[in-house]
This record gives sequence, structure tokens and C-alpha cells, in this order.
Amino acid sequence: MNFIIDTDMGIDDAVALLMVLGHPQASITAITTVRGNISLSQATLNAGVVLDTAAAPPLPIFAGCARSLLGHEPDFASEIHGPDGLGGAGRPHTSRPPAGEHASLAMVRLARQSDQPLTLLTLGPLTNVALALHLDPDFFKHLDRLVIMGGAIDARGNTTPPTEFNIGADPEAAQVVFSACRDVPGGAWLVSWETSVAEAVPFETWDRLVQGDTPQAGFVRQMGNHLKQAMAAFNLPVLIWPDPLAAAVALEPDIVTAEEHRFVEVETGHGPARGQTIVDYRPLSDNIPNLHLVRGVDKPAFTRLLGLAAGGR
Ligand code: BDR
Ligand code: CA
Repeated sequence: MNFIIDTDMGIDDAVALLMVLGHPQASITAITTVRGNISLSQATLNAGVVLDTAAAPPLPIFAGCARSLLGHEPDFASEIHGPDGLGGAGRPHTSRPPAGEHASLAMVRLARQSDQPLTLLTLGPLTNVALALHLDPDFFKHLDRLVIMGGAIDARGNTTPPTEFNIGADPEAAQVVFSACRDVPGGAWLVSWETSVAEAVPFETWDRLVQGDTPQAGFVRQMGNHLKQAMAAFNLPVLIWPDPLAAAVALEPDIVTAEEHRFVEVETGHGPARGQTIVDYRPLSDNIPNLHLVRGVDKPAFTRLLGLAAGGR
């Protein structure tokens, strides 16, 4: 399995990347970065820091878009991810500077060049991917699968009442991407905020997973501790892991236990529903489904995959 991972490299992106790095059947072709949880430059630095932590083999990092498609100023999520985006576990330097090519150009090139099936896993706002589709309208035809963390499929958002962060950060980009999803030969999956909440991991389970003495375990333990405090507002003894859940679905598609194939579009107006993912649940709709909505996963399998992020086997 080969992956391009497009990420805004906050805490849960880092856990997702470590999970993919730890999976015996996965190989990463490239990491592409986008602004979102944090600035583009911080996300790009953090990608290198996470690879350093895992002593990963050399693999390219390509920096992408610092603003939304319409050029909107970033609205970061530092209250959740901390000023360094990694809950204080980050470092000021990495031995892995980004390659010179723009992320969107690299995606298009690598997808066309790949002689192996390629999965694009997106963990941040969809700006780089939308730009790639503008550069090459056939981009998605060169992928095998697409797995997107994003959206609030029951309109129970985390940024505004109906809107999830990754889609709300660049609704136009998300609409460009969603409208091309039927081109992906192996299909496109959406891992929503609500499904991430439903699959939240109890503190007790998490603490057990991260108790090892590998460098990865220490790193994710520190990030998890930060997140426990940041998520006190939920007042529940659980951690919500949207990006690792998407990574798990990308790594082992069979862990999905419930899904619906639906037509989804994005509200791009400027009212209170901006960035909402509007799902057509009507049984007699003429709209052709474009996305597989993940509704549930095999919890023990997800827990096992989370353990890989902490250097487990
Ligand atoms: C998404 O937004 C970010 O904070 C997370 O990394 C995740 O990608 C959840 O809404
Ligand atoms: Ca993310």
C-alpha cells in the first residue's frame, strides 16, 4: 500500500502519520503540507519532526498552500493543538527540510508516475488537493483510493454549529474535491467528525497503548496529555482521534463496519452554514453518490492500529 498523506500536522495528524509509519504493509510516497491546525511553515517543520521521532527512512515533504483557495486568512486551532501544533512535543529543528516543488504539483506528478496503487489520505483542509485538480483534472483517475478526514455528516460540527474544521477552513476547495470524487477508481471515503466522536478512545485504553519506552510512545504520550486538557470542555474521559481514524480506514479498509454511499456537497455561501457538508439522504434522489460515509469501525482493530503510533507491534 502506497500513500500520499496531505496534512496540517497538528496532534492527531502526527498520531496518524506515526500509525502509517508503523504499519508493516504501508509505504509513504510523500507527505504534503497545508495550513490548517497551524501555519504552513509550522506544519512543514512538524512533518519533519514526526519523521525524525520515528527514525523514518528518507521520504519527501512538499509544502503547499498557506491560504484557502479564495485567499482567506488562516484561522488556526492552536487552542486544541498548542502553539507548536504538537501540544508542546514539537522541536524547533528537523533534519528534513521540504523539497522545492509545490505540494499540488508533486501530487499530480507522483500520481501520474506511480506504478503501484496509490491512496491519497487527507488530514487537513482540502486546498492542496483542489489546486491539484485544477492543475490536472484527471488527477483522481491516477489514484486508487481517497480517504478524507472531514465533514459533519449529521450537521453536528466542531467549528461552527453545522461545520467541521477541515471543510470549514476551505469550503470552496472541499466542493472542488467532492465533485470529482466519482473519478477515483477505488472510491472515496469520508471520515466525519461525528464518526470520530462515536469512536472516541477512553483515557484508560489510551494510557495503556502509550506506556512503552519507545521514542514514539513518549512523543504521543505528551501530545495525548495536552489533548486531555484541551478537550476538558467535552467533560468525558475520552480522546477523539479524527485523523488516526481516517488513517486506520485507509490502512485497513475492512475495519469499516458501517457505511453509506451518498451524494455530498458543500455549502459555500457566507451565512451561518458556510462549510456545512450537505448529505443527500433521500431514498429517491437523482443525485449520484460520490462518497462512502464511514459510520462505524471495528473498535478493537482501531485500538490495535492506534498502538502502532506508539511504536507497538
Ligand atoms: C480535524 O481538524 C483538525 O483539528 C484535526 O487534525 C482534524 O483533521 C477535526 O475536525
Ligand atoms: Ca488535521
